[in-house]
Amino acid sequence: MRLTLRTRAGRAKRRLVLGLFALLSAAGPGWDRPARAEPAPPLRFCADPDNLPFSSADETTPGLYVELGREIARELGRPFQPVWVPTFYAKRQMRMKLLAGQCDGFVGLPDDAGFMAPRVVLSNPFLRLGYALVVPKGTGIASLRDLGGRRVAVQFSTAPQDLLASQADIQAVTVLSVEEAMRDLLDGKADAAFVWGASAGWLNKTRFEDAFAVIPVEEGMAWTVGIGFAREQDALRGQVNQALAGMAPFVSALTTKYGLPQAASPAPAPGPGGGEHKPPANAAESSRAADGAIGHKLFNENCAHCHGTDAVQGERRRNLRLLQRRYGDEVREAFMTTVTHGRINKGMPNWSGILSADEFNEILAFLLSVQVQ
Ligand code: HEC
Repeated sequence: MRLTLRTRAGRAKRRLVLGLFALLSAAGPGWDRPARAEPAPPLRFCADPDNLPFSSADETTPGLYVELGREIARELGRPFQPVWVPTFYAKRQMRMKLLAGQCDGFVGLPDDAGFMAPRVVLSNPFLRLGYALVVPKGTGIASLRDLGGRRVAVQFSTAPQDLLASQADIQAVTVLSVEEAMRDLLDGKADAAFVWGASAGWLNKTRFEDAFAVIPVEEGMAWTVGIGFAREQDALRGQVNQALAGMAPFVSALTTKYGLPQAASPAPAPGPGGGEHKPPANAAESSRAADGAIGHKLFNENCAHCHGTDAVQGERRRNLRLLQRRYGDEVREAFMTTVTHGRINKGMPNWSGILSADEFNEILAFLLSVQVQ
């Protein structure tokens, strides 16, 4: 027995146990930082090594999220350490990194009550992001209403493509990247592009010598983002909220530096504490009885081009006649969260500010009257 302990396997095992202990101590909830003068542990934010204008492993242009992380760490008196992870599979990365304690925060998560809740909690929002119209300067196109009769470049399988599909008088030109859309504008193959604003702003600044106007589009195509933390890190979230409260000018300077289109209405000023996002008052609780007729009309006017006339839709994930089956007792909550936040990256717009709480209730009443049993 004594002999086996000296074998390599035995040593490896002991190292593993020690390593595990170190990992657990670092990640464990409520593990207090020692009061002695030991160096503060680094604030580690997960960041994509190649996702400008947000983050980059290239020191000369670290990106908005990395610079923000550094500034927050400075405020908290801790060194900053990015943990590089590609964010293409954001949810998977959050499970593997954030929830496993390998980083403390994940910057840029949508302010969406349903996004990996309750395991992930969000800081106050600090930035508004979304789709934008890109046009050569001086064309007179300033909003979606000016697109009638025009050729508009959109990326394949994005919310703008879905939106334009319902507009008979707009000719969509499908492209594979934001850069391709902007080249089409230069080559006269399109009159406007309707693409992800942050990428367009960054390319405009770094590749196209500011040739274009990049105009943010609200209308359900923009949302706010914050920093995600594992639920157990609520104390850290509070500290970060406090740091963020004074940083609006810093964030604004960063948006200019990285060419992000400035939204017409800035993100709500973050307050020092709390910061739980709540759906608009009334939307979730209203018990107003509706018979479905008004909702039916509202639905066909606003939702039918993606969810089918009268909510008859063959594609399963867009079939709203399955809501009751899918969500059971939580159908109202699931509905309200989805319509008031959207699932922008999946093509479902955010309708808050466009339809009222009463109108949401009317639409839900209609949908509940047509559920499959
Ligand atoms: C531009 C297209 C588009 C429009 C317009 C649209 N939706 Fe959606 N919606 C989607 C897509 C795509 C999904 C599926 C998202 C996903 O896969 O999670 C969806 C999902 C939903 C869901 C969640 C379904 C589920 O089973 O989880 C609800 C609820 C919903 N939409 C309601 C509405 C309502 C109400 C309207 C009108 C006010 C509307 N949508 C308009 C594209 C759209």
